[in-house]
Amino acid sequence: MLEDAMGRRFYYLRLSVTDVCNFRCTYCLPDGYQGKPDQSFLTLPEIRQTLTAFAALGTEKVRITGGEPGLRRDLPEIISAAAQTPGIRTVALTTNGYRLAERIARWRQAGLNQLNVSIDSLDPAEFHSITGHNRLPEILRGLEAALAEGVSVKVNAVLMRGLPDQLASFLDWLKTTPVTLRFIEVMETGDHPAFFREHHISGQTVKQQLLAAGWQAVQRRRDAGPAEEFWHPDYQGRIGLIMPYSQDFCSSCNRLRISSTGKLHLCLFSDGGLDVRPWMQPHVATTELQDRLTALLRHKAPSHLLHDGQTGGTQNLSIIGG
Ligand code: 5AD
Ligand code: SF4
Repeated sequence: MLEDAMGRRFYYLRLSVTDVCNFRCTYCLPDGYQGKPDQSFLTLPEIRQTLTAFAALGTEKVRITGGEPGLRRDLPEIISAAAQTPGIRTVALTTNGYRLAERIARWRQAGLNQLNVSIDSLDPAEFHSITGHNRLPEILRGLEAALAEGVSVKVNAVLMRGLPDQLASFLDWLKTTPVTLRFIEVMETGDHPAFFREHHISGQTVKQQLLAAGWQAVQRRRDAGPAEEFWHPDYQGRIGLIMPYSQDFCSSCNRLRISSTGKLHLCLFSDGGLDVRPWMQPHVATTELQDRLTALLRHKAPSHLLHDGQTGGTQNLSIIGG
């Protein structure tokens, strides 16, 4: 079992399969993707090897992230590799929703259980100005298609200064839409310190509004991650708040990350990734990768240092998929 010095257990792996993205979200890639397009991302055999090693160490859930994972042509094969790895019970995917309606059936057939779609605003013009794409109606259609396929859906909205004004339209939508909407406090990254200073507001503001409107905290499971969840008897949807700047956020950390170039990130905001790619090669025994991961985990820090403005090596979140 992957367990660190503080007794935190890591049964959840976030695996980035590309850092390329076709959107230009203001808080992430405001000028679009600037990386080298010829980067060699993890191959399917390397991914299989990685999943096998993690599963042998107790990983039960894998989230495939990017960049935008939908840009990989072999994404259905990656999903089925995850679904077929013994020990992996949940395969999740985070996407910006591009062409979702056309793709979801194939992803579902490959074994996808959960989908996170980023929707930062339900107002088409506002959505356009945040993401650089006028695609809100298309993405909402994709979301409906995912629900119709029986996939469990979460929606990510980055919590920025203007959000409290939009809360009413999000709540309205949740009355009849059975998704979990998660407000994620904007986090400071190396590329955008000024954006953070201008836009960050605490999730506590939203929490107070929700409690005043009759929303109730969901009892947290012992293995729950860092989100705080709320429900309301009159609403089909739920709300989650992710508040990385609140106290003790890191004490419930249950996840590890692998970047699209094969680096282990012990934290979203660690100084850099630890290269494990040489051990992901199919001719190397998976037990060697397991030993390597177990040894590296000893270096996991108790908490990020975002409170002190230290963003580590994380320039933007497309590198390791949030
Ligand atoms: N702060 C908070 N969330 C972010 N994301 C990307 N960049 C940031 C940031 N700076 C999240 C968005 C998106 C997911 C892929 O990553 O919620 O939905
Ligand atoms: Fe792309 Fe996601 Fe970053 Fe937006 S947040 S630019 S969709 S990687």
